Amino acid sequence: MTILGIDIGGSGVKGARVDTVRGELLDERFRVPTPQPADVDSVVDAVAEVAAQFEGFDSVGVTFPGVVVDGVTRTAANVHKSWIDAPAAELFRERLGKPVTVLNDADAAGAAEVAFGAGRDQSGLIMMVTLGTGIGTALFLDGVLLPNTELGHLEIDGKDAELLASDRIRESEDLSWEKWAHRVSKYLRHVEMLLAPRLFIIGGGVSKKSEKYFPLLEVRTPIVAATLLNNAGIIGAAVSASQALTLDTMTAGQAG
Ligand code: BGC
Repeated sequence: MTILGIDIGGSGVKGARVDTVRGELLDERFRVPTPQPADVDSVVDAVAEVAAQFEGFDSVGVTFPGVVVDGVTRTAANVHKSWIDAPAAELFRERLGKPVTVLNDADAAGAAEVAFGAGRDQSGLIMMVTLGTGIGTALFLDGVLLPNTELGHLEIDGKDAELLASDRIRESEDLSWEKWAHRVSKYLRHVEMLLAPRLFIIGGGVSKKSEKYFPLLEVRTPIVAATLLNNAGIIGAAVSASQALTLDTMTAGQAG
């Protein structure tokens, strides 16, 4: 079975076919800019454009930057509001003509890191935090995901945390690494107080520059940078689609 992974991000929609056993891309990624506004019709078009570059895949995993329950997108903090309650999996399936699994972007990135990257072979409670356009979170207990945690929206100093400490805010407010690291620390300490995870895995584009701000973070919990970087979403989406395909096959086998 070959799976195509597609990651819908704040600035780009990226995809590639994935070796879901090794957690590696089989192709060079293809990327188109995320349409602005990122409404349902334009994003479905962009996903179809990415998928059209690839051949020979059996199913598709797609990440979405919001809550996704049973293939329906429930929130849209950083995309167009038309995504609220949109039947995303159905829309993609109709357009691509293949089975499609849709899941939250941080859940996908975390699943990839836990299976193949920075969270490999770690037990206990692990938290993935993506610092990008927003703040995404994913929680894993002994490798099992608790989906759709939205802890990037915890309130810190009376503000939505992602409006205080996301990478987009670092850039738009032109914050120094010190100032931004102070805000990220405050956020992580709050989470640490509530959940006591064993490990924070920090992802998002800025995880590539971890040497600039990791030494400035003041948190008790160990922190590591995501290792799959920009490919974590694509890989996690594909792994999730491949698990859905296996489950379907098992259920069909039982029914037969
Ligand atoms: C959304 C999350 C998403 C995160 C990162 C937040 O604004 O609510 O669902 O994971 O941004 O894209």
